[in-house]
Amino acid sequence: MLAQVSPWHVHAAQRMAAAPAHALTPPTRMEWSTHPGLGPGAEILGPHLRRKRILELGCGPGHNVAHLAKHHQARVTGVDLVGLQMRRARSHYGHIDGATFAAGHALHHLQATSQTFDAIYSVFGAVGLVAPELLLPATSRRLKPGGVLAFAVPHPARAGRHPTVDDRPREDYVTMPNHTRLPIARWEFDARRWAAHLARTGLSITSALELRHPRRDPWPTTLLITARKR
Ligand SMILES: C[S@@+](CC[C@H](N)C(=O)[O-])C[C@H]1O[C@@H](n2cnc3c(N)ncnc32)[C@H](O)[C@@H]1O
Repeated sequence: MLAQVSPWHVHAAQRMAAAPAHALTPPTRMEWSTHPGLGPGAEILGPHLRRKRILELGCGPGHNVAHLAKHHQARVTGVDLVGLQMRRARSHYGHIDGATFAAGHALHHLQATSQTFDAIYSVFGAVGLVAPELLLPATSRRLKPGGVLAFAVPHPARAGRHPTVDDRPREDYVTMPNHTRLPIARWEFDARRWAAHLARTGLSITSALELRHPRRDPWPTTLLITARKR
């Protein structure tokens, strides 16, 4: 029997086959949604990011890692489940001082590291894709007191859906570069349920923003949550 390959690996493999990665200039803005320019930028991670230690959970090709390292002089590690994504991220941004990429499951990385961080974030990455009752306590343990957790997830009410009414994940799909779709499990909480989960791990929610492109989206598409370690 064939071992099941993660949809995220298939996604990265198709991307790499379509266009080999090359060195890129880091973007001038941090993006929390799929619409460039929508919503806040890096400022929600803290006012002074210079030399701060920051971790991204599920960084993909590393655009936000590169932005924070280049434009804020932060020391940023991007972690991604898919080794191929990390190869791609290093090809794009391996030349940027302060940007480091590590392959691995977000939960294993958090459990294995002894570092603590000023900020940890996820942009459609591991937060929402890994059981929150495991990922949030592991994340909170690696945050310094007063540290920030920020994460963007697909809005649970996008396209007329409804947030889950319990703590279980729902089936969602990842659309591949070749337009096929593969199933994944996603935790689709509203802000109140996220706040309750965060509170159990010593994190207080500080904002919950619903992002929606004013002309293109009839519904909010992104839920962006920030919390602070008590
Ligand atoms: C939709 S992409 C977002 C990538 C990136 N944050 C961005 O905004 O471009 C989701 C990423 O999360 C990664 N991922 C999924 N589950 C993960 C896990 N358990 N640990 C680490 N990364 C994970 C996938 O490999 C994929 O690169």
